[in-house]
Amino acid sequence: MDPFVYRHSELSCERVSLRALAAATGTPAYVYSKAALLEGYRAYDRAFAEVPHIVCYSVKANSNLAVLGVLGKAGAGADIVSGGELFRALRAGIPTDRIIFSGVGKTPDEMRAALEVGILLFNVESLSELRALDAVARELGVKAPVALRVNPDVNPQTHAYIATGLRTSKFGIPYDQALEAYEEAAGLKGVEVVGADMHIGSQLTKAAPFADAVARIASLVKTLRERAIEIRLVDVGGGLGIRYRAETPPTHQEYATVLLPALRELGVTVLLEPGRSIVGNAGLLLTRVLYRKDTGEKKFVIIDAAMNDLIRPPLYDAYHEIRPVNEARLGGPVETVDVVGPVCESGDFVAKDRELAQAQEGDLLAIMSAGAYGFAMSSNYNTRPRAVEVLVDGDSYTIVRRRETYEDLVAGETAL
Ligand code: LLP
Repeated sequence: MDPFVYRHSELSCERVSLRALAAATGTPAYVYSKAALLEGYRAYDRAFAEVPHIVCYSVKANSNLAVLGVLGKAGAGADIVSGGELFRALRAGIPTDRIIFSGVGKTPDEMRAALEVGILLFNVESLSELRALDAVARELGVKAPVALRVNPDVNPQTHAYIATGLRTSKFGIPYDQALEAYEEAAGLKGVEVVGADMHIGSQLTKAAPFADAVARIASLVKTLRERAIEIRLVDVGGGLGIRYRAETPPTHQEYATVLLPALRELGVTVLLEPGRSIVGNAGLLLTRVLYRKDTGEKKFVIIDAAMNDLIRPPLYDAYHEIRPVNEARLGGPVETVDVVGPVCESGDFVAKDRELAQAQEGDLLAIMSAGAYGFAMSSNYNTRPRAVEVLVDGDSYTIVRRRETYEDLVAGETAL
């Protein structure tokens, strides 16, 4: 579903006009659709209905408490990668038996915090981490439920910065060392081996790499069982891509169809860690045109959102569609422009050489597909307060994070 459609000649989120919203909240503003969020979650829930499963939403994609709360109430768990994300998941009311802890560098303090509340699973990424977790668990007198994240060494065919399942990446335990690692894990007193985990990358638009990876994990699980290491949870990670431009990623159903045969046969509970495919197209970044500039060489549209608000275009060369809020612009002249922000860097752009309906000073533009890794990766660079976040539900909306103030930005600093 696309919750962002033109109504009464204005782009809206569900039934809220983005013009009216901008007038009330100011810009830049991240705007999320509750209906789209829920649909993103439910599409997974339906696709995997025939096996026991938990959709553990990957908090890093968008960690706003309201987003977590909406998904948690619908039945989602959380995939966390830090003590901070654990804090958020708990604050949002996600039950601890639906929380899984991933990531290559968990600190002993973070492990302790997660063990104290009793989470479902730790996805462990190295032998040294395994030993550290064992020590922390024994100190607390508990057993840490563990899966080893195995690197299946498949090429996910995505951007190099977000590919993780290759042998050369820092993630997971190499496939050919996994058996030995499991045997060590099985002998540790502070650890209970319960699962196997994989995650091969993000924004995957082909089903084949998922199929290859899950086949390798399934074969490992069978070998482990032969050695009396019982695996009851298989975490297939996240990574399903979304449409930013012309991509045609697998549907949830197609994704499930590729994964399920191997998983069904194992009789395990399936854990999923999707992030982008739940929130990405449920959100946009609303911005206003400040100025126009024509250097003779190039035309620039200068907007009030910048790389501190949305880093994906400069960081990954990512494409985000830009739509005018005023539908009438679509019938007007078209021009090729760079859409840039106020930050003092040439890398501060949202689009380069983009053919767009001509936008005038004061116009509102919507930067689409910004619900995932948008606000979550934003910063205060150039001492810019981070944007307001708004959740729309039907014809009403809630400010789910107010715009930061200058005082917020210096709180915690000491002037000398
Ligand atoms: N599980 C693990 C272990 C992960 O590392 C990630 C993402 C996910 C799940 C969720 O993946 P998703 O379903 O969202 O693809 N900042 C980048 C994306 C980085 C992804 C990092 N890991 C971007 O803006 O494209």
